[in-house]
Amino acid sequence: MELRLEKYCAQAAKLSRSQVKDALRRKRITLNGRPAKGGEKILPGRDVVCLDGEALAWQQHLYLMLNKPKGVVSATRDSREKTVLDLVPESFQRPGLFPAGRLDKDTTGFVLLTDDGDFAHRMLSPKHHIEKTYQALLAGQFTAEMKRRFESGCVLKDGYQCLPAAIRLLEQGENAWVEIVLREGKYHQIRRMAAACGSRVLELKRIRLGKLNLDPDLKPGECREILHKELQEILTTSTPRA
Ligand code: URA
Repeated sequence: MELRLEKYCAQAAKLSRSQVKDALRRKRITLNGRPAKGGEKILPGRDVVCLDGEALAWQQHLYLMLNKPKGVVSATRDSREKTVLDLVPESFQRPGLFPAGRLDKDTTGFVLLTDDGDFAHRMLSPKHHIEKTYQALLAGQFTAEMKRRFESGCVLKDGYQCLPAAIRLLEQGENAWVEIVLREGKYHQIRRMAAACGSRVLELKRIRLGKLNLDPDLKPGECREILHKELQEILTTSTPRA
């Protein structure tokens, strides 16, 4: 698929649109060996684009870590609500980008966005059991019975039998901060597990996917690229079901 030179340079060199414009004006960008002009069309793989003589490598797929704030929906488009895609800066926007997995509107934390459908499929497939780690504030006391029910596989109010989930108490005050590790991702899962145990989720944040932690430097609403080796940290925890 062809794309505009400006977009190619912004993505490949991680420059803003105005930095690309400036580099073009200063003739720092070449296309197939001659000075490039704004608005030209590029075909990744066929055309060679250089910045200051260095070829700009085209990355086939993009993987982003977003720290989702409250009030934002995990969708690509919504007529009324702000979506996770609306938070992605222009230099990272590309066709086909979507959230691989959903968090509820009021859940915060790690959302992975990608345009790599195969990767998303592997990450989300129930066969792979990728761990998803959350911190939750549960209303009231955390009890031994709650721990037992989470760890033996809660039965939800609709009869669904959850896979066993790890849970540990982090801090007990009026309410309980806990860490929960799920190996599946059903709709409203933690809220429904808590309800099945007679409690209620007051706050929920996803802090890890597989072994990859949400970057503590990302403020709510910010995102950054996920490095290749970090992708492995997400997938290597997978333990295919026999
Ligand atoms: N469980 C939930 O209930 N909500 C989320 O957003 C994620 C896990």
